[in-house]
Amino acid sequence: MEYRLATLEDKELIQSYVEDHYSHNEKSLSASNMLTTMKYEDWVKKIHKNKETADDVWGKSLTYLAIDNEKLVGLLNIRYTLNEYMRMKYGDIGYGVRPSERMKGYATKMLKYALSECKRLGMKEVILGCYKDNIGSAKTIIKNGGELIKELEEEKIINEHWKVKLISQYYKIKIK
Ligand SMILES: CC(C)(COP(=O)(O)OP(=O)(O)OC[C@H]1O[C@@H](n2cnc3c(N)ncnc32)[C@H](O)[C@@H]1OP(=O)(O)O)[C@@H](O)C(=O)NCCC(=O)NCCS
Repeated sequence: MEYRLATLEDKELIQSYVEDHYSHNEKSLSASNMLTTMKYEDWVKKIHKNKETADDVWGKSLTYLAIDNEKLVGLLNIRYTLNEYMRMKYGDIGYGVRPSERMKGYATKMLKYALSECKRLGMKEVILGCYKDNIGSAKTIIKNGGELIKELEEEKIINEHWKVKLISQYYKIKIK
């Protein structure tokens, strides 16, 4: 698997990813950082800018293409400077897998990679948000060490909050 920011040359790769969603009647794309609402060239500029400069709402973020065998299988969005309110509402990481490539283990691998990036960026724990009926996402989180910390009902939809600890709080102390 390869994870990287998009470039102008990726336009066709991304077009096919978007069409995969539309042909499966999915109108919105998770973790895409507004891909479908902008001109492709402007979106590429935006995701490169967001890596270095904080967006008013989402802070700094990494929007990665997850590529396997030259195919774009998913998108990852790591929002690593969110304020506490936004963290608890939306979580630090978003991910989506193209409909034709689901149930093949991609989200599990992508979240594992995202957690390693968060650790590299100095985060000690990650908050993830997921609707209770999204079994695939909940299982992906559990397989990556997630612990359910809270359930919130918002307009009859239950939103689960999960935490993944990146640094163990418990150290083995050797006593001579
Ligand atoms: C949720 C999503 C990311 C899962 O991606 P995926 O690549 O299919 O996930 P994986 O293949 O890594 O599966 C992880 C586990 O969940 C299970 N799973 C995945 N989709 C499932 C589904 N629809 N129903 C039940 N179980 C499911 C898998 O079987 C696997 O469990 P197992 O190892 O015990 O068999 C994908 O369905 C998706 O992109 N959905 C739309 C966007 C979204 O919901 N993003 C997350 C927002 S919180």
